[in-house]
Formats: sequence, C-alpha cells, structure tokens
Amino acid sequence: MEAGGNALDAVEQGVRVTESDKTNLSVGLGGFPDRDGNTTLDACIMNHKNQCGSVGFLQYIENPISVARKVMEDTPHVMLVGDGALEFALSKGFTKSDFKSDEAQKAWKEWLKTSEYKPIINRENHDTIGMIALDAEGNLSGACTTSGLSFKMRGRLGDSPIIGAGLFVDNEVGAACATGLGEAVIRIAGSSIVVELMRHGYTPQEACKEAVERLIKKHDNQVENLQVGFIALNKNGEWGSYSVYSGFNVAHRDLENEKLVDSEFNRPW
Ligand code: GLY
Repeated sequence: MEAGGNALDAVEQGVRVTESDKTNLSVGLGGFPDRDGNTTLDACIMNHKNQCGSVGFLQYIENPISVARKVMEDTPHVMLVGDGALEFALSKGFTKSDFKSDEAQKAWKEWLKTSEYKPIINRENHDTIGMIALDAEGNLSGACTTSGLSFKMRGRLGDSPIIGAGLFVDNEVGAACATGLGEAVIRIAGSSIVVELMRHGYTPQEACKEAVERLIKKHDNQVENLQVGFIALNKNGEWGSYSVYSGFNVAHRDLENEKLVDSEFNRPW
C-alpha cells in the first residue's frame, strides 16, 4: 500500500501468507481437520463498495481467500460452498492439493481416542486470521480465512464465510473482523454490530468492547472456554480490538509503526 496499492489487494495478499503457511494449524490446508479427518476451509472478502465474496466448506485449495475474491468479481453471487466452490475454483485455474499436515493429522488421531466433541476455542486451537486495511484513497477492505473449529462436525460452517459475522466493511464508517468461536459471533452478527456501533459514534475500541460485552450477555455470562475477539478500523485510521479472554494478539501496521499488541479483554484466561 505504501507503493500505491489498494486495500483489497493488500488484505487478499496478506491473508494468503498465513493460508499458505503449512505449519499453521488453524488456517489453510495445514489446519486441523473435521472429526472425519477432512480439512475444510472457509473465507470471505469485502471491498469498499460493499461487494463481497465467500467460500465455505472448501476442500483441497491452498488459498480460499482468492477463490472468495473470484466469487465476488466473476459471479453474480456472494457465497459458494462445498463441491460447487471447488468446481468453481478449478474452473478458474486454482489447483487441487492433497496436502495434509502431519501435525494436524496426529492431533486428530489423538482426539479420535476419546472423540469428545466440545466446540471450544482456546489458546491452543485459536483460529481465524482477519485483516482489515485502509488505503491512500481512503478505501477500506477486509478479509478473513480459517480452517474452522478443530474436529468440527462435517459440514459445520463458522462465522468466517459469513458477511456481517466474521467480517463487515462499510466504507462510510469502518471495518471489523472477528476471530474465535464462530457460533457465538454469528449469534450477535458480530462484525456488522461493531461497524454499526462505530456509525453511531463509538471509537473502534469502544465498539469492539461493546460487542464483546453484548456477546457475553447474550450467553447469560456462560462463556467458560468461549474465546472471541474483534478488531476494528475506522475511516480515520483509528483502530481497536477487544476479546472475551486474554491471549488475543493484534498486529497493527501504519506508515510509521509495526507492532504486535495484546488486545484488551473482559477477563483473564
Ligand atoms: N472463527 C472461525 C470459526 O469459528 O470457524
């Protein structure tokens, strides 16, 4: 972006790095599989014109975010899932990969010994990468991508392919992205709420905090082991983040600084 690139290209290229990192256990083909041993990927992308694209339950493709962008740009739709998403990706020249991470497969085999099904997000299996950016033209874009909850039920989608839950951008206001337990984020239309709060005058930090507090309230304060975090950025380049539990990091970069920040949180882990 310093060289004049736009926010949409930046967020796509940015999250591709993590998707292609085969050692990452919660994003991309290296991620933990579902409970049947299949790695299924979810991603979405949104630009400054409220155009968006999404893929869910996509298998065998290294960079789902780029398929999501193609859905946005080359189809009249927002979302493609499963075999249809794969077929579309192959038709657009993406190649199929059978890569499976040894570490993720080992963890899955270990899990199979008890097959205890508990949708929990914690420090060890924390998930999604979300990236939001504001470019020199004053345009916002966002992207998020994940292999989802480890050992999830086959067919389960979280918040990350859902516009308004895992990601929302409104170029008049700001952008927000979520990580953590997708079901909890979907229940409050998380990223959309953060953007709406900013529209009504909340700073990005206040908006993320209010969304997390609302989420906790809507779960009757029963949030043991339930981690969710939001990041937000407004049109002025101000940003914020907040999570249910400690342990959520945000990487922030502008023309002067680059830093990894421990997010503020509601309670210690
Ligand atoms: N936040 C990612 C997921 O729940 O799948």
